[in-house]
Amino acid sequence: MNIAVIGTGNFGSTLIKLFTKAGHRVTVANRSGADSIQKLVAETGVKLVPTEDIAHEADIVVLALPQKSVAELPKQIFAKAKAEVIVVDCTNYFSALYGKIPEIEKGMIESVWVEKQTGRGVVKAFNTILADSLVESARPEGSSNRIALPIFGDSSKKKEVIARLVDELGFDPVVLGPINESWKAQPGSPIYCTDLDREQMLIWATKVNRKTLTLNRDAAMASSMALPQTATWKDHLQCVRKVALEN
Ligand SMILES: NC(=O)c1ccc[n+]([C@@H]2O[C@H](COP(=O)([O-])OP(=O)(O)OC[C@H]3O[C@@H](n4cnc5c(N)ncnc54)[C@H](OP(=O)(O)O)[C@@H]3O)[C@@H](O)[C@H]2O)c1
Repeated sequence: MNIAVIGTGNFGSTLIKLFTKAGHRVTVANRSGADSIQKLVAETGVKLVPTEDIAHEADIVVLALPQKSVAELPKQIFAKAKAEVIVVDCTNYFSALYGKIPEIEKGMIESVWVEKQTGRGVVKAFNTILADSLVESARPEGSSNRIALPIFGDSSKKKEVIARLVDELGFDPVVLGPINESWKAQPGSPIYCTDLDREQMLIWATKVNRKTLTLNRDAAMASSMALPQTATWKDHLQCVRKVALEN
């Protein structure tokens, strides 16, 4: 498939490497241009494209930039896109890092806000796993304890395409509800960055409490930030699990 990734930071570059390794044709866009991705380009052969052109040839457009920055994307970004293009929202709302989004502060579902900015329906996927875990936890289908990734969206057909991509990258896709239920996969949820397997995810997905998401998100972040610099991604994962699965 032709996959366009917007954002070449920690998460975007990880996805780019995995997508190219899986044989997809990947184009990328970022804010600062070619200088920041010379190594990534040399390693993967991906092509940097101006953001306004990134969606033209794409079957899938992956949003891997800070959520607030989605509002800065060119307004005509999807004007020449294929009618059936799938927009994947990997973004999460962390106001402490990037500033507040008033609509989300008032309770708008994060991916609904992203849909409003882009003018496109989105599939929410890949937002619930740390970049390091994407690399280190991938397992072949049928492996015990294979980590599950939830998928939300209004199009069953598009969710199925993304489910196959999730499986291809080494994770169990768990296709859940429409985008208006995607708050269940937001930061602070027990299915957000807790690396559950499919069975556990199906149980926890029924138990998400929307009212405690923000509190849990901020508590997990505070606990994670208090870790020493030598902490590994697994230490950060434990902070998130402790808050989200025990509160
Ligand atoms: N890191 C993770 O483990 C992880 C896991 C799950 C989900 N996510 C989500 O993935 C997103 C990216 O996270 P990250 O950790 O990769 O952040 P990051 O390292 O700060 O990278 C952000 C990327 O977005 C690009 N960008 C910012 N504004 C842009 C714009 N207006 N147009 C085009 N590109 C723009 C930046 O471009 P420049 O490099 O040119 O500045 C940079 O490449 C966030 O929403 C995050 O919540 C991250």
